[in-house]
Amino acid sequence: MTRLLLLHGPNLNRLGRRDPAHYGTLTLAELEARVRARARTHGVEVHAFQSNCEGALIDAIQRAADDPDCLGAIVNAGALTHTSYALHDALVDFGRPVVEVHLSAVSEREPWRRVSVIRPACIAAIEGRGADGYDEAVDRLVAAAGR
Ligand code: DQA
Repeated sequence: MTRLLLLHGPNLNRLGRRDPAHYGTLTLAELEARVRARARTHGVEVHAFQSNCEGALIDAIQRAADDPDCLGAIVNAGALTHTSYALHDALVDFGRPVVEVHLSAVSEREPWRRVSVIRPACIAAIEGRGADGYDEAVDRLVAAAGR
């Protein structure tokens, strides 16, 4: 079965307890279950991975790059979004469609959050739609894969 990589970066393991005004009340496990359910409607499975470490996230992208059944990735890189050229390069090397997602409306927050250095490696960026943004990301990736 084909699959999507669902990648979460630093501090997103704290969802449900972390700043609910920006990030909502769903836990990471609940959010992942929701993404899996959406992907299942397209006959696609989800490989979810979260880490607080940049290198571990890059390793996960490289493993997905070696998986011929992986059709793309949904990436919420947390604050690494704004700084990590290494993640950008790993996503370019991944060579498959990537959708950047943010739970909060990053473009309406502090100026440093308005910058995404991974954006050029992505086919789309979705922000400020909470968990609904992930459903859209699944649909966009499945469409991009022509399924
Ligand atoms: C975030 C926004 C980032 O600026 C922040 O560092 C996060 C979460 C979001 O989902 O809105 O950790 O990516």
